[in-house]
Amino acid sequence: MALDLKKLFLFCSMGATCFVQPLDLVKNRMQLSGVGDSAKAYKTSFHAIKDIVGKEGVIAMYTGLSAGLLRQATYTTTRLGIYTWLFETCSKDGQPPGFAVKAALGMVAGIAGAFVGTPAEVALIRMTSDGRLPLAERRNYTGVFNALVRITKEEGLLTLWRGALPTMGRAMVVNAAQLASYSQAKQFLLSTGLLNDNIGCHFAASIMSGLVTTAASMPVDIAKTRIQNMKTINGKPEYTGAIDVLTKVVRNEGFFSLWKGFTPYFARLGPHTILTFIFLEQMTASYRLYVLGNKDVRGSL
Ligand SMILES: *[C@@H]1O[C@H](CO)[C@@H](O)[C@H](O)[C@H]1NC(C)=O
Repeated sequence: MALDLKKLFLFCSMGATCFVQPLDLVKNRMQLSGVGDSAKAYKTSFHAIKDIVGKEGVIAMYTGLSAGLLRQATYTTTRLGIYTWLFETCSKDGQPPGFAVKAALGMVAGIAGAFVGTPAEVALIRMTSDGRLPLAERRNYTGVFNALVRITKEEGLLTLWRGALPTMGRAMVVNAAQLASYSQAKQFLLSTGLLNDNIGCHFAASIMSGLVTTAASMPVDIAKTRIQNMKTINGKPEYTGAIDVLTKVVRNEGFFSLWKGFTPYFARLGPHTILTFIFLEQMTASYRLYVLGNKDVRGSL
């Protein structure tokens, strides 16, 4: 039963990848615009979409889909596996752990998943960004496995984990920001007295949480994108680490450039946040109602 649920979840998240792949591509292009040739910097995501579709065609928006699917498969499988194992380890006499412990377990599982998913993530960044380069400078990976093999051969096995720290950092920030801002937003909405603790309130709170989470995680994400995409020129890498990326972006492109690609990132993370919390709230409410026989469903998160 548990296994079937996990498979279903994996199947759904891979299905969702087919919808969000173009958003990922646009976000990555936005985050890289301004690197090298500044004439190619996009003002907004709509300029980026127009330019990509015009120059490369609609199908190009799906470049890197194989990497997106492998990332989802490796990340989701690891995260769920580790979460289930930790959850069972921390349950005593059939009693599940409390909310704070569950949140911590979710974070640890997310970080572990991010580590395992990093090679697919490197392939994804490089495949989605290839089309912005002149033909002679492209990497021409034909698919995710070709990318993984070529990266290993050309740059060494360790390059597959390039940017692992910001990738894990992003997982941590997303998990923490989602949970913290959701509880805060919900408390605030309830305190205004305009909303009751129902699905409408959960929806509004999760939109606010999605916005906060996007804003909080984008600077980590731009560091990750640029590190994973960088080339080594004359033995010198473009960036020495995440702090170096952030300093250079702020200095050369302006403070708000850290949030380049906000629209496609939010379009991706927003619905994800909404579904996560509505699902969690509904699950908790039915658990209380049917298992504990408690009709008071308030204060679950
Ligand atoms: C990618 O293909 C283009 C021609 O389509 C070529 O000029 C370029 O050198 C290729 N890149 C690599 C790394 O082989």
